Amino acid sequence: MQVLGIDVGGTGIKVAVVETTTGEMITERVRVPTPRPATPEAIGAVLKELVTEHKWTGPVGIGFPAAIQRGIARTAANVHKSFIGLPIAEFFSAQTGCRVFVANDADAAGMAEMRFGAGKGNAGVVLIITIGTGLGTAVFIDGHLLPNTELGHVYLDNGVEAERYASEAVRVTKGLKWKEWGKRFDHYLTTMEALLWPDLIILGGGVSDELHKFSPMITTKAPVIAASFLNQAGIVGAALFAEECLHRDK
Ligand code: BGC
Repeated sequence: MQVLGIDVGGTGIKVAVVETTTGEMITERVRVPTPRPATPEAIGAVLKELVTEHKWTGPVGIGFPAAIQRGIARTAANVHKSFIGLPIAEFFSAQTGCRVFVANDADAAGMAEMRFGAGKGNAGVVLIITIGTGLGTAVFIDGHLLPNTELGHVYLDNGVEAERYASEAVRVTKGLKWKEWGKRFDHYLTTMEALLWPDLIILGGGVSDELHKFSPMITTKAPVIAASFLNQAGIVGAALFAEECLHRDK
């Protein structure tokens, strides 16, 4: 099945048509900046443009940076607060004229990695962390997702919220060297390890292809590997999520 996959991030919105049987992107990835303020109307208008540009009328899967409970946004850390309580799938369906399905962005990225990428065939507990404007998390148990874990908002023992301490946005705005940021990120990883004891940790998002630069700082017992889809996992996973919902509806 072909699905338009969209990854809405705190800074950029990325889109491509995805073939869900293989997890391949069959059009070139397009990236546009996330509008500010990132209100439902402003993001909806950008989504409408992207759908029109792709001459798309089929199903759309969106990975969105919030807890999404049965189509309703419950949080809004890096987008406008008016998303909270919004039936987001319904809202974006009305704005784009397409059938839209919305999942948390990290959960979507995790689905792509578990089906086709670095987590394929992995039993046990797998923790996927997407590193970007925020820190997104997805937890899989024997391949099954525990949806909407918001573990980037955990407070570390230094009293700072994890995503305000060790996200990619923090690395860039504070101009941290890889070694400095790597130490912070390891602090986060070891905290996660002590709480979840994952068998495998997969890192996605912009910095996943820079893992070699900070891997010397990592001290977890669980192996830490880069996502196979690197920064594209969100787009592919969003499409897989839409396909899964359509199948469930049948
Ligand atoms: C949000 C999560 C999201 C993560 C990555 C966090 O601020 O609360 O829902 O997955 O950022 O975008």
